[in-house]
Amino acid sequence: MKIIQAKDYSDMGKKASELIVRLVKQKPEAVLGLATGSTPKTTYKEMIKDHHENGTTYRKIRTVNLDEYVGLEKGDINSYHYFMNEQLFKHIDMKSDNSFIPNGMAENIQQECAYYNQLIQSLGGVDLQLLGIGRNGHIGFNEPGTSFTEKTHVVKLAEDTRKANARFFPSLNDVPHHAITMGIQNILESKSILLLASGESKAPALARLLNDRDVSVSFPASSLHLHSNVTVIADEEALSQVYSLEGRP
Ligand code: F6R
Repeated sequence: MKIIQAKDYSDMGKKASELIVRLVKQKPEAVLGLATGSTPKTTYKEMIKDHHENGTTYRKIRTVNLDEYVGLEKGDINSYHYFMNEQLFKHIDMKSDNSFIPNGMAENIQQECAYYNQLIQSLGGVDLQLLGIGRNGHIGFNEPGTSFTEKTHVVKLAEDTRKANARFFPSLNDVPHHAITMGIQNILESKSILLLASGESKAPALARLLNDRDVSVSFPASSLHLHSNVTVIADEEALSQVYSLEGRP
């Protein structure tokens, strides 16, 4: 695992965007695995800035998002479809046909999960998967206890996760109880993984990931130790409880 220290949230976004833009230039038809939430916002902002200033093109780029709430329409301001459009897609030259996000309104959710797995395969797999980390170590919406062999599936969200995400909704009651998420196996099948973390609320999770290094389903992010190409970009606050920044393979 390679660890890159950023000064703060904005610097983390700059460093992450540099890595992503490099890949987009090297492989213009790359498949990017994208995430939502607060963490990647500065990364997307920097990608947009680069697109405007340096003309990096996303015309052939394909994207697959990690997850979506069950029961929210695509146009709902809290849906991840809406988030991705607002935070990234509408500001760059991505083709709308090339971006994929699980459909949380699908009539048959199980079928939607199977379709999503096939879709990722048909795109040739994910070149770079961007991840945030939950305070309880979740990645995507893979909550503690999720088997590492799970592929795209429906999850019941942990109360801690619903509470953490309630800040985006009118009240906790409005936060959906279920989501569709890529599984840990999908994440581990990506060719490379970029995990981002910012702020002191993430410090205990990063400490567990980078100090303890135990691999356990009780801490989903620990599955990343099973992957050979993981980069962590985190800011000083998020790394404040990590003893050593020496990444070990
Ligand atoms: C989002 C996702 C989640 C978030 C995590 C951290 O697509 O899959 O795992 O990355 O909940 O959320 P933030 O970034 O809001 O702290």
